[in-house]
Amino acid sequence: MVNESERFIKDFESGSQPRWISLLGTSGNGKTMCGTHLWRRLSRRANWTGCDFFRETIYWPNLIDELRSTQSFEKYIELKRWPILFVDDIFAERDPNGFAVDKLNCLLGSRIGKWTIITANSTVSEIEKVDRRIASRLVRKPNVCVVNMAMDYAFRE
Ligand SMILES: Nc1ncnc2c1ncn2[C@@H]1O[C@H](COP(=O)(O)OP(=O)(O)OP(=O)(O)O)[C@@H](O)[C@H]1O
Ligand SMILES: [Mg+2]
Repeated sequence: MVNESERFIKDFESGSQPRWISLLGTSGNGKTMCGTHLWRRLSRRANWTGCDFFRETIYWPNLIDELRSTQSFEKYIELKRWPILFVDDIFAERDPNGFAVDKLNCLLGSRIGKWTIITANSTVSEIEKVDRRIASRLVRKPNVCVVNMAMDYAFRE
């Protein structure tokens, strides 16, 4: 996770083709912390001209809650064009009618070719069962997917 994260920062700073990094795996092993670090490094150097909303990390289940109650729609639209986006904890929300997966598909479809950081508490094959297209995009070059199955920090001696 650390090596790939360093490579992501280096690619961004050297002006490489924008891509995604997805940090997947078991709970409590530092995915959000790592994603937040990447977001801080990239967001302060990105060009935010023309973006109205406060730049923040997006906790996906919260955004879905807001969208369900018809809030944050304009923010959701703007996320599609942010120069750098961190969506934390995709697929962590309950999604009985497929609303969240539709919103995610549409968001990620618009993020192709833009710097994007993603975390999920799932494996690629679990994601594939929910939505094949999202799984395919996560692993499709130049995007990189890191699977971290390290033990939860909370349960370490
Ligand atoms: N490298 C590290 N060394 C020590 N503690 C760490 C490290 N990375 C994360 N932690 C601690 O582990 C806890 C869980 O980290 P984090 O929230 O990033 O995990 P996560 O993988 O996103 O978990 P979840 O899948 O449940 O969202 C945090 O309290 C954090 O302080
Ligand atoms: Mg997390």
